[in-house]
Amino acid sequence: MENDPKITLEVFRYRPEQEDKPVYQTYEVPLKKDWVILDALNYIKDHIDGTLSFRWSCRMGVCGSCGMMVNGNPALTCATFLNKFAPGPLRIEPLDNFPVIRDLVIEMTDFMNKLKSVKPWIIREEEKPVEEGEYLQTPSELADFKTYSMCINCMLCYSACPVYGLEPNFIGPAALALAQRYNLDNRDQGQQVRMDELSTDEGIWHCTFVGECSVVCPKGVDPAGAIQRYKIQGATEWWKSLVLPYGKPKK
Ligand code: FES
Repeated sequence: MENDPKITLEVFRYRPEQEDKPVYQTYEVPLKKDWVILDALNYIKDHIDGTLSFRWSCRMGVCGSCGMMVNGNPALTCATFLNKFAPGPLRIEPLDNFPVIRDLVIEMTDFMNKLKSVKPWIIREEEKPVEEGEYLQTPSELADFKTYSMCINCMLCYSACPVYGLEPNFIGPAALALAQRYNLDNRDQGQQVRMDELSTDEGIWHCTFVGECSVVCPKGVDPAGAIQRYKIQGATEWWKSLVLPYGKPKK
């Protein structure tokens, strides 16, 4: 490891309860070809400075917990190679648009509440009896929503979204894409319930289709596309409610 070339990381350090403002601390780490940025942070933690705080778990782009700003762009640090940034230096910061708890760890309560508000589960008006068997789905019915089900809740899209940055009440890209994941599932009957919640100013209409959410998504979920589809659906519902004599149609 001593013979490896080195790269410098400028890492955001902040303990809000003790310090007035953040500082950038510089660390030199080995520049190994097979290292991702998370390996470099773990090297710092294990060998240089055990006080550095950051989140991670799976190390394989699945749990969604290692998102950070890497040279100003939201990225999963376990899925971003270090040598891409050679010769450095490389700046690592917490995800934009979220309060910092400590160093690279952000507060995610707002995001968790928003996820819950879109009712991300299958809603049935009436469950059929177990004896009648499972709800069947064809491959093309699955294909309708599969893309949106790939979200790992990493919050990179919230960090990239200028609307969420300016209007924290905006429900945001991942939660809206997740709502669409269930709306498009043929086993679900909760579209109207979700639409009542999401066709508000804080919901789909707040999105100005900047599209950065889809650019940074590490799983190709395309939240921007999901929201535009949702807008079309919302506008159609609105027209139907004007034209149909008994108000809002059921799904
Ligand atoms: Fe799980 Fe990076 S550590 S996605």
